[in-house]
Amino acid sequence: MPSPSSESSDACLPSGRGRAARPRVTLVVARARNGVIGADGGLPWHLPEDLKHFRALTTGHSIVMGRRTWESIGRALPGRRSIVVSRDAQRHFAGAEHASSLDEAIEIAGQAGSDPSIATDEVFVIGGAQLFAAALPIAERAVATEIDRDYEGDTLFDALDPQAWSVVERREHCAADGTPFSIVDYRRLPQASVSPRTTDA
Ligand SMILES: NC(=O)c1ccc[n+]([C@@H]2O[C@H](COP(=O)([O-])OP(=O)(O)OC[C@H]3O[C@@H](n4cnc5c(N)ncnc54)[C@H](OP(=O)(O)O)[C@@H]3O)[C@@H](O)[C@H]2O)c1
Repeated sequence: MPSPSSESSDACLPSGRGRAARPRVTLVVARARNGVIGADGGLPWHLPEDLKHFRALTTGHSIVMGRRTWESIGRALPGRRSIVVSRDAQRHFAGAEHASSLDEAIEIAGQAGSDPSIATDEVFVIGGAQLFAAALPIAERAVATEIDRDYEGDTLFDALDPQAWSVVERREHCAADGTPFSIVDYRRLPQASVSPRTTDA
């Protein structure tokens, strides 16, 4: 006959044991007014102000990207833990870690790596369109650079649904070349479902 303590052992685990917390998933996207985010494997604009914002936001965190975005960046970005999602298990990404699915990438980001200064409580999914599509249902936060111009391109990202996302902060900017853009911090509304952030360890 089981003792009372063994019957309720799961409920009595000290916090942090038995279930591993998953990091908050945040999308980081730069989007033109007409929805374009990419052209010919790269970005259709040169906006140093946005790159500076991107660096400040993501430094000290894991960044997760699709294989094509990795190829367009061409190197691991300093001060961040780079995780590249590709179904090709044979691929090697110098200075980055490989994950065969978004779920595996988030799992990796939630565990301490070789650099203890990298936070494990929030992971930034930085594109491209394929990876954004996979991450959108589980993201709780999105930081969008909304460029107030149309660009030609071949890679698109839909505007966030106002029924599912609220704006917590909007900062308006004007780039040195006169391009107007806003940096908008979104949170998923509570009633909009997010997949569980915990998994059995
Ligand atoms: N404006 C922005 O914010 C922004 C941000 C990032 C990128 N971009 C632009 O977007 C374009 C690239 O976007 P993209 O959609 O073509 O490519 P992508 O999402 O960067 O990469 C696609 C590749 O990633 C892997 N992948 C994606 N989703 C996966 C999943 N759920 N599970 C497993 N593997 C997955 C696959 O790699 P394998 O084929 O190796 O299996 C797939 O072919 C470029 O023009 C880039 O400059 C723009």
